[in-house]
This record gives sequence, structure tokens and C-alpha cells, in this order.
Amino acid sequence: MTAPRIRVSGLGKRYGALEVFRNIDFDVGAREIVAIVGPSGCGKTTLLRCIDGLLPHDAGEIWVGDQRVTEPIAGVAMVFQHFGLFPWKTVTENVAYGLRMAGAPKAEIERKVPEFIKLVGLAGFETAFPYQMSGGMQQRCGLARALAVEPNVLLMDEPFAAVDAQTREILQFELLRIWEERPTAMIFVTHSIEEAVLLGHRVIVLKGRPSSIHETITIDLPEPRTRETLREPRFAELRERVWSTLMREAREAEFVLER
Ligand SMILES: Nc1ncnc2c1ncn2[C@@H]1O[C@H](COP(=O)(O)OP(=O)(O)OP(=O)(O)O)[C@@H](O)[C@H]1O
Ligand SMILES: [Mg+2]
Repeated sequence: MTAPRIRVSGLGKRYGALEVFRNIDFDVGAREIVAIVGPSGCGKTTLLRCIDGLLPHDAGEIWVGDQRVTEPIAGVAMVFQHFGLFPWKTVTENVAYGLRMAGAPKAEIERKVPEFIKLVGLAGFETAFPYQMSGGMQQRCGLARALAVEPNVLLMDEPFAAVDAQTREILQFELLRIWEERPTAMIFVTHSIEEAVLLGHRVIVLKGRPSSIHETITIDLPEPRTRETLREPRFAELRERVWSTLMREAREAEFVLER
């Protein structure tokens, strides 16, 4: 068994008096997708920002490979819910940005940018600006920018939440296809239980205030995951399992409020 790519141990984070989460422990393998679900405000975005090194943590440790995370490190890329594109840059310039920030030489940028634009299905839109594209296309562009640096860790914060249901389904399978081609360690935060079960090898359920890991559910569905996966009885079972775990949490939260 190879060493995990990401190791989070005893992690705690507070914003002043607000303790967001505590005692978070989990690993992500070099070729593994871990989905994280949990109620709004439980700290999912905060957790990703800590792993990305954008936010300091207060307790515990984060390791990416053999590097301890205290600031952003090379090889970790994040995809945001609201695309995070520069409105004044074209697709080509947006995709090149990550590489430029990583200090890639000009020749490498010129070679890679078209390659990744093609990979996410945006060929022909190289000179388009974000306002000229649909939400799904903008998200593809954000994905291309993250993938172009060939990260070995991909952090996804509800990347498909802002697109319509049909586009979302298309993007989920596109992401799976890309991941099969170029597997990475991936943490995928989502509010969609279906999405978590479809994409994840494991689903982590965060709960409580401060939150911590309530349950980790292994998703033992065959790979590669395809549209067929959605029709498997096991898929429905696992979806129910995650759903009931989350709903139990929601009821407990209500109970605490009522008292
Ligand atoms: N910069 C900040 N300063 C103070 N409090 C913050 C800050 N960012 C987030 N919080 C608080 O920390 C908690 C966790 O926020 P976070 O955005 O991580 O939740 P989340 O699980 O991603 O929620 P959602 O599912 O709605 O995206 C919330 O109570 C939020 O109000
Ligand atoms: Mg969030």
C-alpha cells in the first residue's frame, strides 16, 4: 500500500470565538476521490482552504506528500463554486494563468494551454471571455486552469453547484473521464448526495457544531463509474445510507435548537 497523498490529522480551525471543526482525521490516496458532505456552514470550504494552505489551521497537521502544509504548495489546485475566472481574460489567458503563477516557461504554457482547453471540450472558444460563455463552459474553463498545472491534489468546492442539472450530469461524467486519464488525489465537496456517491471512493459526513467526522462510508461501486452506475441497486443503497446519516444529523441539530 502506497503512502497517502493527503494526510489530515487532529485538524482544528476557529474564526475567533467560532470553533468551526475539531479532530478531523482522514487520508486521501494518490489515486482516490474522497467526497465530503455536510450541512451548510459546517466548515467544508474552510477545510479545503486549510488544505490548500490559504488559511492557517489552529490545531493538528496537514501533509501533502512529504510536505507539511503551512502555506500554498505546488501541485495542489482548487476549483471554486463560482468559477473564479478573470472576467477580463479570455479562455486561453484564464487557463494560462495557473501555469504562469506556477512559473512555467513560455514554451510549456503554449503547448499545454490548447491541450487542456481541448481536454475539457472548449476547443473553438479560446478567445471567448467568460461573459460570452454559459455557466457550464465557465466551469470547464476553471477545471482546465486547475488541471493544466498537472496537480497531484485537486480540491473541488461544489464545482457544479451553479450549473443546471443537465450540464451538471455531463460535467460529472466528463470529470470522471478526465480523472481516469489523469488520476489524482481529489477532495470533492458537494451538497448533492448522488454526486458524492457517484464520484467518491469514500464519502465523509461532517456533523455537529463544532463539526467533526460523523461517518466515513466506503463506496464499493465498480469502476469506471458510468451512467450505468446510477442504475445499480448498490448505488441506491449507498445513496440512502448517506442520506439517512445526513438526515439523522439534521434532526439532531433541530433537537439541540429546540432545547
Ligand atoms: N472568514 C471568515 N470569518 C469568520 N467566520 C467565517 C469565515 N468564513 C467562514 N466563516 C464561518 O465558518 C463556518 C463555516 O463556513 P464554511 O464556509 O467553511 O462552511 P461550508 O460548510 O462550506 O458551508 P456551505 O455548505 O454553505 O458552503 C460558518 O459558520 C461561517 O459563517
Ligand atoms: Mg462552502
